[in-house]
Amino acid sequence: MTTALTALPESRVPDPRDAPPVRWGILGPGWIASQFAAALRRHTRQELAAVASRSPERAAAFAAEYGIPRAYGSYAELVGDPDVDIVYVATPHSEHHRQALMAIEAGKSVLVEKAFTRTAAEAAEVAAAAGKAGVFAMEAMWTRFLPHIDVLRQLVTDGHLGEVMVVTADHGQYFAPDPHHRLYAPELAGGALLDLGIYPISFAAMVLGASPDEITSTGSLAFTGVDAQSAVTLRYGDAVAQVGTTLLARTPTVAAVSGTVARVELAADFYTPTELTYVHRDGARLVRPDGDTIRGHEGLCYQAAHAATLITEGATESPLLPLAETTAILAIIDEIRTHLGAP
Ligand SMILES: NC(=O)c1ccc[n+]([C@@H]2O[C@H](COP(=O)([O-])OP(=O)(O)OC[C@H]3O[C@@H](n4cnc5c(N)ncnc54)[C@H](OP(=O)(O)O)[C@@H]3O)[C@@H](O)[C@H]2O)c1
Repeated sequence: MTTALTALPESRVPDPRDAPPVRWGILGPGWIASQFAAALRRHTRQELAAVASRSPERAAAFAAEYGIPRAYGSYAELVGDPDVDIVYVATPHSEHHRQALMAIEAGKSVLVEKAFTRTAAEAAEVAAAAGKAGVFAMEAMWTRFLPHIDVLRQLVTDGHLGEVMVVTADHGQYFAPDPHHRLYAPELAGGALLDLGIYPISFAAMVLGASPDEITSTGSLAFTGVDAQSAVTLRYGDAVAQVGTTLLARTPTVAAVSGTVARVELAADFYTPTELTYVHRDGARLVRPDGDTIRGHEGLCYQAAHAATLITEGATESPLLPLAETTAILAIIDEIRTHLGAP
């Protein structure tokens, strides 16, 4: 497989509208919950059954905006709703562990926003609880389920890149210093790693695995003590992943997977639906344009469709992102935080 490809594989990701509808309960009607509800309304047949906020007024306003029939003023009421199949946990990272456990104990499946929990230990507890209850649980690492990522996976697993030697990816956004913003707030498990760094780290794990032989990192803390910036190298035998994240600057947010035969470049923002370019080591190029009609955060619909299909089939985990992998990725982040001296 050293000659250049003449055509790229097709994505195998099903049309999100084909996924069987399940009944969703949204827990925490913030920014991402709005994106999620809009994406499901526009691109799927999923049923938005209920929403819960800590405030009845906020729940009612969200329900009115997205045509959701039931609005609850407490999260406990939502998880107790017998007509909800899966709870989408869309709160700050500090809350995920407790709320996922609450939903699981009520017998609900869960889709938990990234980062799944603060630590690997918390993730393992949620995974064990879901296993014991026999319910579906998955981290909402939506990038994994996008069509261009499926094309990349095929190129890697079918050997078209040769042996993968280097993965690079970055995710930096600028957030004005504000101790009350969840990304700067230690009590909400702020910091770049759990919010932004999780994307390039999960990307590296998808390609090279979630158990590197060595993790080296350097960086700095924000004025509130949370991690602000990290430059990380993950070594896997002779292969390396170089990943970076920051709260202090808007970085290119591109990714590349380079092998002995060819490389793949993902244009900005690599973690959303975007253009993919294959470049053979002799220079031949093939481009998969960002031609999807599902753009930007509308791509959240793919993870929901994937989860709905698996729940309907009786599965308890995703083969594309098993809970053991989610847990191992958080162990990488745990170690980087230790290097940085972050909480
Ligand atoms: N997939 C993506 O592209 C993406 C993008 C952004 C964020 N996220 C993830 O989504 C999650 C939420 O982020 P967001 O940006 O949507 O946050 P947000 O706008 O601040 O919303 C979070 C919601 O959580 C609820 N909440 C519960 N306990 C809270 C507490 N102690 N402090 C503050 N809010 C609390 C609030 O709703 P009520 O008070 O009304 O109940 C709030 O509306 C995070 O895990 C984040 O990493 C994912």
